[in-house]
Amino acid sequence: MKRIFSGIQPTHTMTLGNYLGAVRNWADLQKDFECLYCVVDLHALTIPQDPEILRRNTRELTAALLAAGIDPEGSILFAQSHVPGHSELAWLFGCLTPMGWLSRMTQFKDKAGKHRDQAMSGLFTYPVLMAADILVYRATHVPVGEDQKQHLELTREIAGSFNHRYGVEYFPLVEPQIFGAATRVMSLRDGTKKMSKSDSSDFSRINMTDDADLIAQKFRKAKTDPEPLPSAIEGLADRPEARNLVNIYAALARTTPEAVLATYGGKTFSTFKAALTDVAVAALSPVADEMNRLLADPAEIDALLRRGAERAGAMAAVTVGEVRDLMGLLRV
Ligand code: AMP
Ligand code: TRP
Repeated sequence: MKRIFSGIQPTHTMTLGNYLGAVRNWADLQKDFECLYCVVDLHALTIPQDPEILRRNTRELTAALLAAGIDPEGSILFAQSHVPGHSELAWLFGCLTPMGWLSRMTQFKDKAGKHRDQAMSGLFTYPVLMAADILVYRATHVPVGEDQKQHLELTREIAGSFNHRYGVEYFPLVEPQIFGAATRVMSLRDGTKKMSKSDSSDFSRINMTDDADLIAQKFRKAKTDPEPLPSAIEGLADRPEARNLVNIYAALARTTPEAVLATYGGKTFSTFKAALTDVAVAALSPVADEMNRLLADPAEIDALLRRGAERAGAMAAVTVGEVRDLMGLLRV
């Protein structure tokens, strides 16, 4: 049986990159699989957070996930810090994860920058907590954007190392699920950088809460080149900004980049950007409206998270108990 787990950090509001690269796929997968979806607030602490804003973002992101179609009855939706098994398993895995494996992680290198010695150790061990998130439910499949692929390879290595060390087939080797036309949505200002919640320019990204005017303005100002759109995919090879906008259109309209170029090949960017704005507004505004409706009742969101944590916590406790036994911790 496939069991799906994925997570998203409550830093800033959800972006179009999160939505197209991950969250919309999460909603689609619920039809066929048992799914756990987690607001990873402990991961958010790897960069400095204002306590009040972190609490607010946790509720907001939960509302955004519900609005994007996550069903809190069929699936399990909860916050990471509400289930202590994640942190406990992360400690146990930390004792099986060489520093060398963590030093290879490109996300750490990017985020820590030049002053690695001053980076917090939590930022360095972040992928160990991520492995624990997934494996504490013994999940088999993890839908994410392409940027998380390396962390999932590490999760497999940790699972393999545990199984080998204790002579068991306890943890599954997880499969990343990376699909859709927008597995890596790029910045609207620089087609070689991923669209990110943490970019200092708000014009680099579309937020799920942006209204129609702001979406139009952001696409209008998005960086492009002077040529019209090509008619075939090969024509996008050296044009990262054009490729990004075509991929975004394809993902939003649930079609392929080829089909988009069949319609817009030869057209100018101003024509294409107007059409792109229309599909974006049509896809995003119902999500934003529903999110605002849900946020009017924060107590309901909290109750939902509490219920999700009870269900997830019961599952996590079983794994942690078995892992403790396998690793030789005394039961009294
Ligand atoms: P994060 O916001 O870093 O917690 O990411 C949550 C999910 O969104 C992960 O599955 C990421 O891979 C995905 N994601 C984040 N940014 C992008 C992007 N620019 N394009 C595609 N997927 C993304
Ligand atoms: N590291 C992921 C990100 O930044 C978020 C995350 C934490 C996650 N734990 C996870 C994703 C477990 C998938 C599974 O996008």
